[in-house]
Parts: sequence; structure tokens; C-alpha cells
Amino acid sequence: MNDTIETFQAELLTCTKCALAATRHHVILGEGPYNAPIFIIGEAPGYEEDLHGRPFIGPSGQLLDKMLDACGFNRQEHVFISNIVRCRPPGNRPPTPQEAAICLPWLQTQIELVNPKILILLGSTALRYMAGPGYRISQTRGTWRTCQNRLTMPIYHPSALLRNPALKRLTWEDLKSIVYTYRQLVNPSHTSAYIP
Ligand code: URA
Ligand code: SF4
Repeated sequence: MNDTIETFQAELLTCTKCALAATRHHVILGEGPYNAPIFIIGEAPGYEEDLHGRPFIGPSGQLLDKMLDACGFNRQEHVFISNIVRCRPPGNRPPTPQEAAICLPWLQTQIELVNPKILILLGSTALRYMAGPGYRISQTRGTWRTCQNRLTMPIYHPSALLRNPALKRLTWEDLKSIVYTYRQLVNPSHTSAYIP
């Protein structure tokens, strides 16, 4: 890990810029290789994440891992995973606009450090705070746009798929589009068992 990344992480670990610092157990740094071609943005750490200090390790994270696996992607090699805020909001409520705004510079710096080819926004909170408040996930999912000057696709959050499995079919179409674009931009010979 280079000095810039180490300094970034050390500063982030002691951040107390917003009120969420008071109730957290861990600051969730984000996880993955700092040269990952894909950067995934969730909402906020939940109970399991706050307890163990890693992003997406609860039920949503397990589904996310399955979704990535179906695309031939994994966290070790292809994706960096982060969130709109890095500390757990009490009771798993969504972050407030103020908390999101205060935490956003950390995310922006992290995106610059990783320098991904593709951004994936998971669910309405990531969509709202990355693209703007006027967007709806049901209308924008599966469409490519530009956020932070990067090619970006919003898709449903895995927690929405757990609540409403009927959304999985649409999400599979979105994941296929991501794999096709990955082959165009990153690796033409990328293989996935389920996507010819
Ligand atoms: N849900 C999120 O949005 N992020 C996590 O890290 C875990 C669950
Ligand atoms: Fe800092 Fe973000 Fe945690 Fe707030 S949520 S204390 S801004 S790291």
C-alpha cells in the first residue's frame, strides 16, 4: 500500500466530523484492491459491518457476493466496495443529507485513489447522494450515466432484492450490461459462467 493510501486510511479511522462518530464501533474504510476497475457504493454500514469493521458482510453482503460471483467478479480482484457514509447510523436508518454531505469528501478521495473504470450505485441512497435528489432508482436502474466524471450504473440494493425477490430478474439484466461494458473497457476475455 502506498503512503497516500495509508495516510488516507489513518485519517479516516479517526474521523469525528459528523454525529455518527458518537455511536459507531468501527469506521468502515471500504474494501478491495486500490486499483479495482469497478467501484461499488452502498448506503451505510449495518449492524454486522459496525461490529466487525468490514463493508457488506451481513445478509445484503452475502447476496452481493453471489451477484458478483455470477458476473465472474470478486472482491479480491475486481471490485472496491464502499458506502455513502462510513459509520453506522443508529437503527440502520438512512444517512441524513447532512451526514452524507459531511462524509462525501472521503468517498470522493477514495474514488480518485482507486480510479475505477465503472461506478455502481447500490440503491436509492447512493443514487440520491451521488446523482442528485431528483432521481428514482426504479426509473434509473440499468441505465448508464456519468457521476464524478465516471461511467456509472445504478442498480437495486441487495436489501431491496431480499425484500422483493421479483426485482432480481431486472437486476440480472443490469448485471449483464455491466459485464458487457467491463469486457469493452477493461478485459475483452473476461469470463462469467452465466454470461456468454
Ligand atoms: N448495506 C450497505 O449499504 N452497506 C453495507 O456496508 C452493508 C449493508
Ligand atoms: Fe466521519 Fe463519515 Fe464517520 Fe461521519 S460517517 S464520522 S464523516 S467517517
